[in-house]
Amino acid sequence: MAGFRTLLTKQVSNRTLAIGGLILLIYWIYGVYKPHLRNVTSYSSIIEKPKNCPKLGFAKPPLPLTALASYPGSGNSWTRHLLQKSTGIYTGSVGRERFMINNGYRGEGVKNGSVIVIKTHRSRNQSEVFERAVLLMRNPFEAHWSYFNLMSSRSHTRIVDKGRFCTRYTKSKGTDSWKRFYINWLQFKGDLFISFYDELLQNKENKLRELLAFLGFSTKNIDCALYDPEGIAHRVDKFPFRFFDKDYINNTNSHIEVVAKELRKRSPVMADHVLTWRKSPSEAMEKYQLDEFCKEYTKTKAKMQKGTEAQKIVKGTNLNRHKSN
Ligand SMILES: *[C@@H]1O[C@H](CO)[C@@H](O)[C@H](O)[C@H]1NC(C)=O
Ligand SMILES: *[C@@H]1O[C@H](CO)[C@@H](O)[C@H](O)[C@H]1NC(C)=O
Ligand SMILES: *[C@@H]1O[C@H](CO)[C@@H](O)[C@H](O)[C@H]1NC(C)=O
Ligand SMILES: *[C@@H]1O[C@H](CO)[C@@H](O)[C@H](O)[C@H]1NC(C)=O
Repeated sequence: MAGFRTLLTKQVSNRTLAIGGLILLIYWIYGVYKPHLRNVTSYSSIIEKPKNCPKLGFAKPPLPLTALASYPGSGNSWTRHLLQKSTGIYTGSVGRERFMINNGYRGEGVKNGSVIVIKTHRSRNQSEVFERAVLLMRNPFEAHWSYFNLMSSRSHTRIVDKGRFCTRYTKSKGTDSWKRFYINWLQFKGDLFISFYDELLQNKENKLRELLAFLGFSTKNIDCALYDPEGIAHRVDKFPFRFFDKDYINNTNSHIEVVAKELRKRSPVMADHVLTWRKSPSEAMEKYQLDEFCKEYTKTKAKMQKGTEAQKIVKGTNLNRHKSN
């Protein structure tokens, strides 16, 4: 009986070892090839690599000053990428971001007619001279989440870590500034083109055609954008959940309604689209679920003197190990 049991354990452990080894091997191969996989999949498999894509340069003669206005986290960098690929003209910006400069956006910081659009996250300012504007709109639940990730990971492509999430997310002010930004830009007096992030994502080709038509550009090089549709700022990793409590949902829904009301003056169809972004309060997570998620962190934090120290430990896997050793 005892011998049988030993035999069984032995067999099991051999098999476990073999499976474990196989998993490790697969994981290793995956790790080595992952960078390549990502590059391959970021190119379209649907269309052939286009020839004669335009080389990037500045516009001559100058173009009308065109804002590319959006709340952060609404696909502004992505739209810039698509526009540069399909027109060969640099996009500019009101501010200067190192990430963009480092990625070859030579128009970063340029705000004159030599760029096709000028990115801005700022409210429209009466004394600024934009002749026309492209307004990018994204579901504020998504945009604010993405912006939050940007602010707390200081990166366009990485996700926030758990420690930062637990200390900062609950302190963020919500989507009130989203509302104020869009009410402000919807009152723009010049030509205004509205682009919805979700529609651009679902129907890239047609939506990009419409945008290029508004800007007065031919669509003949649109394949150059569709072949390389992702750009540099695509957030790859996902956080395990999005935390929205009842108040957050209620407030954001009412912001959406205010913006939709303003938008209705321009387009009832678009206003109805915006209203579909509202969330049901039943999708809310309860506060205790957040506390549960952050419990370990909250406990550790009490024992730490400095926030930065605490974050280092939360990045490690097992908090208790630190305690018992
Ligand atoms: C893929 O992209 C990564 C990071 O963007 C880069 O380090 C790597 O060299 C690229 N691989 C290939 C095969 O282009
Ligand atoms: C536009 O601005 C950039 C940098 O601010 C400057 O180098 C360039 O000469 C300007 N171009 C025109 C046409 O004004
Ligand atoms: C509006 O723009 C002008 C000129 O660029 C600037 O001096 C002023 O501070 C801006 N006002 C606001 C509220 O941003
Ligand atoms: C939802 O938000 C609105 C506006 O912020 C407020 O007037 C209302 O009382 C809130 N309702 C609930 C159930 O919290």
